[in-house]
Amino acid sequence: MYITRSLARSCTSLPRSTRPSLVAAMPFLSAFQQSRHSSHSPMGTPPTNPRKKVTIGTLRSMHRRGEPITMITAHDFPSAHVADAAGMDMVLVGDSLAMVALGMEDTSEIILEEMLLHCRSVARATKAAFTVGDLPMGSYEIAPQQALETAIRFVKEGRMQGIKLEGGKEMAQTIEKITTAGIPVLGHVGLTPQRQNALGGFRVQGKTSLGAMKVLEDALAVQEAGCFAIVLEAVPAEVAAIITQKLSIPTIGIGAGNGCSGQVLVQVDMTGNFPPGRFLPKFVKKYGDVWGESLKAIESYRDEVKSRQYPAPEHTYPIPKEELEVFCAISKKL
Ligand code: KIV
Repeated sequence: MYITRSLARSCTSLPRSTRPSLVAAMPFLSAFQQSRHSSHSPMGTPPTNPRKKVTIGTLRSMHRRGEPITMITAHDFPSAHVADAAGMDMVLVGDSLAMVALGMEDTSEIILEEMLLHCRSVARATKAAFTVGDLPMGSYEIAPQQALETAIRFVKEGRMQGIKLEGGKEMAQTIEKITTAGIPVLGHVGLTPQRQNALGGFRVQGKTSLGAMKVLEDALAVQEAGCFAIVLEAVPAEVAAIITQKLSIPTIGIGAGNGCSGQVLVQVDMTGNFPPGRFLPKFVKKYGDVWGESLKAIESYRDEVKSRQYPAPEHTYPIPKEELEVFCAISKKL
């Protein structure tokens, strides 16, 4: 409707001349022009000085030097792109995506194929960081063979460089099977959200001497089985620091204090990409207000569309005056 009205306005000032060649030229945009003028392009110009690829070797030498390892979750192409651009050492496609990106009740609902879809989109954007995909509940616990098959799918179809799985001693054989096949495994002990029903909810682990010993024994077992690093989740800081000292591989803490070899956070949480009032675990620091910024931007867009301030002339494409004259003349005859 608006196009018709503005076209009518443009046409009134034009003389009556026709040029049938215009009709032949109507499929006017070549594939190249279409892609140049589309907003659906992935990343824009690549940086001139790209970061060196982070490998297992890089992570090991960071650990040797005592340099903290940074890790963040990404669940899709844009969130991986920004994490990589910000210089993260590792990007994790965590199964937290079930809750924070797909709106599921808990992580047990997500299936392997859904994880793989998100892994692929993250892999396409992550040029430097080391990528790790989280094996979802049900895809690895039955037998080491099942776990290896799933891990291979994460590498071949998900395009991940390593995998993460939850569990301690009881997963040692499984971890050994996967690492022996040449797939790096990131362990995950302490609070293991996939087992929340057995743990009685999202509870801090290792709060008693016995509990702390169990976390240490689990960490030692998965190290022995071949993990290149271990996520320590929701463990008292002092316990996590002692466990870190006892291990020869890095610990990546989440709710486990500053004595770990590195840290991981869920990106949606730490960027503040959620509405006010949502529950946030104690250990999360909110570094931004992405939800608030997006809300403001979308509200402004809504207001400007309603008031016809957007799009302004600078957001439109020009047409040569004579071409417009011809078009107006032809369209009047229709
Ligand atoms: O699923 C996830 O995002 C995770 C991290 C919180 C470690 O497992």
